[in-house]
Amino acid sequence: MKCLVVANWKMNPATWREARQLFEAIKKAADRSAHLSVVVAPPSLYVRSLRERYHGRRLAFAIQHARAETQGAHTGDVSLIQSKDAGVQYAIVGHAERRAQGETDDETGAQVGEALSLKVTPILCVGEAERTSDAMYFEVVRRQLRAGFAQVDPSHLQRVIVAYEPVWAIGKQSAMRPRDMHEMAIFIRKTLVDLSMRNGPLPTNKKEPTATAMGVRILYGGSIDEQNAPAMLTEGDIQGFLVGRASQESARMRALLQALDAVA
Ligand code: 13P
Repeated sequence: MKCLVVANWKMNPATWREARQLFEAIKKAADRSAHLSVVVAPPSLYVRSLRERYHGRRLAFAIQHARAETQGAHTGDVSLIQSKDAGVQYAIVGHAERRAQGETDDETGAQVGEALSLKVTPILCVGEAERTSDAMYFEVVRRQLRAGFAQVDPSHLQRVIVAYEPVWAIGKQSAMRPRDMHEMAIFIRKTLVDLSMRNGPLPTNKKEPTATAMGVRILYGGSIDEQNAPAMLTEGDIQGFLVGRASQESARMRALLQALDAVA
């Protein structure tokens, strides 16, 4: 499976002109990165236009946030069904910056369920705000995973991507250590295996739930750049990255994709 790099532009860049330029640069860099799959998550305002101008096959698009409801009185929001119609194949769900604004665990579960029903791949973000000595952060991640996967059939767990983004590593100078990520990846898989068995044994014509739980792709996010990404990929037990700042500047994103393609 190819290493997946998701470019979360957040609320950047300021103009449509700059968005086109950044997209062109990422497109070129992605074309040169045979071992990577690249997904671009622009502000929702730019998604449809970028999608329509793009005729290649190497890149896919994600929405950064979308509601599960199909319509309604939600001023300023967009829905998953509108995002699908605009051409996205992925949806970021429960990013820490949305959770900080009040998004609940239940809402993330509904969004994952709706995304799957639309055949959009959810990228469920989980991660604790801080690390205390009592290891409570594992509990936080377990709770977020349980809620996020609440509507997922145990034989379909693999259709969801999990992005582990510890809040304390987002927007900082340095990323988490790869060996700590490795430990967290093991914990995430174990939690998903437990979830996969919650309904007891499945009919034999269904995929083995434990196997699908073990096959869920895990991404890391938080201060990733071309310097720290290769070691994280080779030692962190992950299958890709959710990238903020380094994906918002052409030169940095080019350097990141080049560095990752060399080790992927
Ligand atoms: P940075 O890469 O800027 O730390 O952001 C991480 C992030 O939140 C990606 O979703």
